[in-house]
Amino acid sequence: MAEKFSTLTDFNETQSEYLNLIFEIMEKRKRGDKPVAYIHTYGCQQNVADGENIKGMLSKAGFVFEDKPDNADFILFNTCAVREHAEDRVFGNVGALKNLKRKYPNIIIALCGCMMEQKHIADRMYKSFPYVNLVFGTHALHLFPELLYKTLSGGKRVYLRDNDDSMIHEGIPVKRDGSFKGWLPIMYGCNNFCTYCIVPYVRGRERSREKDIILKEAKELIDLGYKDITLLGQNVNSYGKTLKEDVNFSQLISQVDSIDGDYWLRFMTSHPKDCTKELIDTIASSKHISKHLHLPFQSGSDRILKLMNRHYDRKKYLDIVNYAKSKIPDVSLTSDVIVGFPGETYEDFKETISLIREVEFTSLFTFIYSPRVGTPAAEMDDPISAEEKSMWFRELLDVQEEIASKRCGSMVGTTQKVLVESEKGKDDILNCRTSGNIIVETKAPKELIGTFQNVKITKAGNWILKGDLVKE
Ligand code: SAH
Ligand code: SF4
Ligand code: F3S
Repeated sequence: MAEKFSTLTDFNETQSEYLNLIFEIMEKRKRGDKPVAYIHTYGCQQNVADGENIKGMLSKAGFVFEDKPDNADFILFNTCAVREHAEDRVFGNVGALKNLKRKYPNIIIALCGCMMEQKHIADRMYKSFPYVNLVFGTHALHLFPELLYKTLSGGKRVYLRDNDDSMIHEGIPVKRDGSFKGWLPIMYGCNNFCTYCIVPYVRGRERSREKDIILKEAKELIDLGYKDITLLGQNVNSYGKTLKEDVNFSQLISQVDSIDGDYWLRFMTSHPKDCTKELIDTIASSKHISKHLHLPFQSGSDRILKLMNRHYDRKKYLDIVNYAKSKIPDVSLTSDVIVGFPGETYEDFKETISLIREVEFTSLFTFIYSPRVGTPAAEMDDPISAEEKSMWFRELLDVQEEIASKRCGSMVGTTQKVLVESEKGKDDILNCRTSGNIIVETKAPKELIGTFQNVKITKAGNWILKGDLVKE
C-alpha cells in the first residue's frame, strides 16, 4: 500500500513577502536598469518545470532574464545528477564564473537541483567554489525566496538540502519558457529504485498532485493557446497511488483530453511495469493524445532487467508494444536504453539489439551506464572495459540509424499534421514536429510558428523529414 500524502501546502504568504523584500534590495544592488537573472537548467523536463517556477518567483521580485551570464546580478545552475557527464558540465561551468565574480563581487551565484540532494556532491561544490553564495536541493524549491533573501541580506553563504520531501507545494508562481509548448507536472519523486538510478534518492518519494488542480492548470494552458502539453512524472503510469481520491493515469489523461481546444497532449515517462491496456485504449480513442508512446525498456535481456530491478521482462514489454501497435495505427514508439550495465555480456547486449529490431523504434535515447554513488548497481562487478562498451554502443547506434531511416523513408509521400516550432536559422526553413515526435523541416513564413500545419513529406533523412507546406 503506497503511503498517502495528505498534506498539501500552498506557496505561503511569507514566501511572497520575501519576494517583495528581494525586490527592494535589488533596486539598490542591480548593475543595470533592471535586476538580471541567468538561469541554466540541465537534465529532464522535471528540472525544466522547476526552473520555470524559479523564474516565476524571480519575475515577481522584478527580475528579467538573459541567456548569458555576463550582465547577470543572479546566476543559478539548476543541476542534474543522472549521469557523470551531466555533473562534470556543472563543475566546469561553475568554475568558469570565477573571473566574473572577481570583477563583480556583488553577483549572487547559486546552485540547486538534483546534484545538490547528493550530500557528497553538494559538500564538494560548496568547498571547491567559495564564491558560490547559495546551495539548495530539490526539496527546498518552495523556500527559494526566503533562501535568496537570507543570502542577499545576511552576507553569509546559505546551504539547505535534505529538506522534508513529504509535501506538495501548490501555487508556486511560474514563468513558462515557451508560449505554445508547456510542461505540466502531475507527480513528483519516484519509488521504483531501479538499481542504476539516482533519481529516487534526489527527488524523494513518489507523490501525485490532486486531479482537480491538474485539470485546472491544463485548462489554463489550453485557454492561453498552448498547443503541445506534456504531463510529467518519473512514472506517470502509477499516478494516483498516493491520493485519497480513487483515480489512475488513464482516467486522469482522458479527463484532460475531454477539455475543448486545438492541442496535442503528451506524457512522460511511462514505466512498462505499470503500462496498462486501459492506457493504450485511452490513447487510441482520444481526441488530443499524440500517437506516441515513450516507453523506456533499458535492456532486452531478462537477466539484466532483473538486475536493474525493472519488474518486467522482455515478453511483457513486447506484449504491451504489440498491443499498442494493434490499437493505435502508425503509433510512434521511442525509448531509453542503457548499454554496459554492470555484468552485461555481449549475449545480453545482443538481446537488446534484437528487441530494437523487433520493435522498430522511431528514435532512442541511448546511454552508456554511468555508476552513481549510493545506488546498488555501483557496487556490482563491472568487468567490461569502457572501450568495449563504446564499441557495443556504436553498434547499437548503427542499428537504430538503419531502422529510423527506414521508418522515415516510409513516410515520404504522406501528408503529416505538424506543429511549427522554431526557425532553423537559414533559408526561411522552419522546424516542425509530428504527433509522433519526428522533426520535419519545411520552408514557411515564421509567423506560422506556434500553429498546426499540414506538410507533404518529400524527403527523408536518417532522423528528420523534409516537406512542403500544404496551403489551405
Ligand atoms: N523515470 C524514467 C527515467 C528517468 S532518467 C524512466 O524510468 O523511464 C532517464 C534515463 O536515463 C533512464 O531511462 C535511463 O535510460 C537513463 N539513466 C538513468 N540512470 C542512468 C545511469 N546511471 N547510467 C546511464 N543511464 C542512466
Ligand atoms: Fe529512475 Fe527507475 Fe525511477 Fe525512472 S523509474 S526515475 S529509471 S528509478
Ligand atoms: Fe536529472 Fe534530476 Fe531529471 S537527476 S534526469 S534532473 S530528475
